[in-house]
Amino acid sequence: MSTPLYRHVADQIAADIRAGVYIQGQKIPSVRKICAQFSVSHATAAQACGVLEDEGYVKAKPQSGYFVRSEAAEPDIRPPVSEMLPPATFNRLALLNQLLSITGQRDWTQLGAAIPDKEFLPTRSLQQHIAKVARFNISDSVDYQFSPGNRELRRSITIRMRDNNIQCHYDELIITQGCQEALALALQTVCTKGDLVAVESPCYYGLLQLLDSLGMQIIEIPTDVCTGVSIPALKMALEQWPVKACVLSSRYSNPTGACTSNDDKKQIVKLLREFDIPLIEDDVFGDLSHDPGSSTTFKSHDQGGRVLYCSSFSKTVGAGLRIGWCAPGKYYHQYRTLHQFTTFGGPGLPQQALASYLHQGGYDKHLRKISHAYAENLQIFQWAVQRYFPKGTTYSQPSGSFLLWVVLPEGADGLTLYRQACEFKISVMPGPIFSTTNQFNRCIRINCARQWSRELEEVMAKLGELVYDQLRNAIQLQCSKTAVG
Ligand SMILES: Cc1ncc(COP(=O)(O)O)c(C=O)c1O
Repeated sequence: MSTPLYRHVADQIAADIRAGVYIQGQKIPSVRKICAQFSVSHATAAQACGVLEDEGYVKAKPQSGYFVRSEAAEPDIRPPVSEMLPPATFNRLALLNQLLSITGQRDWTQLGAAIPDKEFLPTRSLQQHIAKVARFNISDSVDYQFSPGNRELRRSITIRMRDNNIQCHYDELIITQGCQEALALALQTVCTKGDLVAVESPCYYGLLQLLDSLGMQIIEIPTDVCTGVSIPALKMALEQWPVKACVLSSRYSNPTGACTSNDDKKQIVKLLREFDIPLIEDDVFGDLSHDPGSSTTFKSHDQGGRVLYCSSFSKTVGAGLRIGWCAPGKYYHQYRTLHQFTTFGGPGLPQQALASYLHQGGYDKHLRKISHAYAENLQIFQWAVQRYFPKGTTYSQPSGSFLLWVVLPEGADGLTLYRQACEFKISVMPGPIFSTTNQFNRCIRINCARQWSRELEEVMAKLGELVYDQLRNAIQLQCSKTAVG
């Protein structure tokens, strides 16, 4: 009897795993890619993956795909649901200012701020489009670009949003100055000072600081590093506290890269509708999926217009353009009024240049290229952590974006590592800035959108060495305490 096709496919991939083509913790090709590589049907490819899982070669991760099994690479850093802490305020401004002052220092190794290396951005193309606008359209671009922003740009964005199943007309969209302004206006549209806002935990520090500046209280909802926010915990928080709004990232949260499954997104939108609570969706990393098309947005499940969808081109084209947008759903008019009379709108030239760049085509190709590069880079950085950091270090396995969340072993501290690293002009983001609590003191976030090099490997080795130093010091301290005791 001939070997079934799925068995043949599984055997080939298993052989590749044994030969080290796919290493521990690495993602094997998606079902879609297996179909194409082996010219087999979706059912055969899925069956082959099932066999590989049954035989212990790979482990499935919801919404992410299949990963080569590895004890060391198994991250288990989710805060238990029972540990949800009461509402709090964020109070880390001095540290944040210090961190931002390091960002942009050219003689530092920048593994901190979530800004990709210039090599990953389409700067050449942009230069041409900016020059074109400056040459042929300067009188328009120096004029006010009133809210809601450049129509061609809005039109291009709404077409792109359809790829994510968001049916939105360009007149329902407002161009903002980055996703940060989109979030700030969304919060001010649906909340006022003193209100309580639910966020994921850990959470993007820029949002925590923004909430603090607006005088809002924060309740952190326990979030799994793979599957995103815990629905039972969110429900518990809504029942227990007077939550006024919820801010969640749908795809590849900052700092962990968590991605809520499509089913969970649907459930969360339904839950918030039952409580009549608006959801501010932050999808700034959404275009950087390592497996495009696999994950949807909250907004695509929204029927009552309660989702205010925010995003930007900062991570894909360039943060300095300061172009983001919001589709505020039923809050459009309040949002637009607030926008209109806060800034009148944004600068015209970058909007026109970006509209021209998107119109020309090539953006999708650029996204495919960088997403692939980021997926590879993450694997290299994960390998470096595994190689150079002490045993007991775990890390996230994001299926999109370029951020790696590293949990140091017991006895080490993320803030201390940040301070030690500064002495060597290396920047990393310390865990405490991503929370109002102390739950993430052992964590750091690493920006992997860097060109890998021998020098970078040495930097990772140095970071590992600093963690080893911390552990040695902790043991010595413990010994001297015991001796004194
Ligand atoms: C999750 C998240 N949301 C929003 C922003 C702000 O983005 P922008 O630079 O487009 O204002 C950032 C920036 O790093 C981010 O990481």
